[in-house]
Amino acid sequence: MKSARVSETLIGNMIAEPVFSEQGNLLLKEGVVINEHVLDKLLVHEIDYVYIFDALMQGIDPKGLIEDEKLQESVRVVKHVFDDVLHNERMGVKAGITESDIALVKNVVEELLNELENAEEILYTVVDLIGTDAYTYKHSVNVTVLSIIAAKALGYDRLDIKNIALGALLHDIGKVRVESELILKPGKLTFEERKRVEKHPEYGYELLEAIEGLPFTTKQIILLHHEKLDGSGYPWGLRGIEIPEYVRIVTVCDMYDAMTTDRVYRNKMPIYRALDILMAEAIYRIDPTIYSILLSNIAVYPIGTGIILSDGRIGVVKTYRHKNPARPVVRVLNSSNGNGNIKLEDVDLENSQILFIEDVWDVETKREEKAAKKEKSKVMVN
Ligand SMILES: [Fe+2]
Repeated sequence: MKSARVSETLIGNMIAEPVFSEQGNLLLKEGVVINEHVLDKLLVHEIDYVYIFDALMQGIDPKGLIEDEKLQESVRVVKHVFDDVLHNERMGVKAGITESDIALVKNVVEELLNELENAEEILYTVVDLIGTDAYTYKHSVNVTVLSIIAAKALGYDRLDIKNIALGALLHDIGKVRVESELILKPGKLTFEERKRVEKHPEYGYELLEAIEGLPFTTKQIILLHHEKLDGSGYPWGLRGIEIPEYVRIVTVCDMYDAMTTDRVYRNKMPIYRALDILMAEAIYRIDPTIYSILLSNIAVYPIGTGIILSDGRIGVVKTYRHKNPARPVVRVLNSSNGNGNIKLEDVDLENSQILFIEDVWDVETKREEKAAKKEKSKVMVN
């Protein structure tokens, strides 16, 4: 353990001593892994120094599969294209998407494909997307990456993967025709509002139907990405094999990413919880094969995730196990016996019958839970 000056270089390290505000309120508990959000919090509260476990993250590289810069560039292009379409809609221009915009999105797909082409081990950590946007540009890029991974694993050829990826990138483009107040509404939508938002697949299809440069597969994905196998989806309530497999890929990836990233109406949920919910959906509503493919190709506990073991010890995920994603190798802190010495131990959860990951450390989730508990107890008292 050592004291370190608060700066960007601390990202990825773990807090070793609780941090308090000037007023004496607990800001961060021991065990929190410093990310951009935690760093912001420290800076806002003008905390200059913290104690960190410098050895804990040594040799652990929590990087995602695709360089952040590449993803950000893709997000910028999607935003530009959506803005163009929105502008044309408002000006009453009929063909809502221009040839040059189509060329831009095709280029993004090509670049993402190239990035993923040579990846030896396909493990994707969903980018930590702080903040939200009206037309979910970041979400569209994430869904595209996940869809490429799933389509590759299902054996599609390059051209098909490209067409599926284009559909994934543009799947929500119809949202430009829905009032942004509805898309950004923090509370629950009324029945009429929900019906209005649910028009977006048809709007998207209408926008792109006449564009010759876009393949049929892509247009089908845009129109059908909210259909469910049991007929409970929209716009048509199609069932089973009426929904093509390439559409089902994007549906599963869309649902997964929507659950694991921040939205205006709620904060993201932990990956393991999203997978539990999807597993329940996989019984009737989504394609179980695609679900398992997604499960075996994404990191349930990405490398560098702060974890709490069932025996109460805290640590981080050190290596990820492709075949057994819930049981990675973790580096944990053993108690210091009161003498201040911290001992690190690598624990291979695959070899343990009694230890499992009980929770993940996510400062935001913890705060939410605490606030909810407080609110609940207030209600009970009243
Ligand atoms: Fe959608």
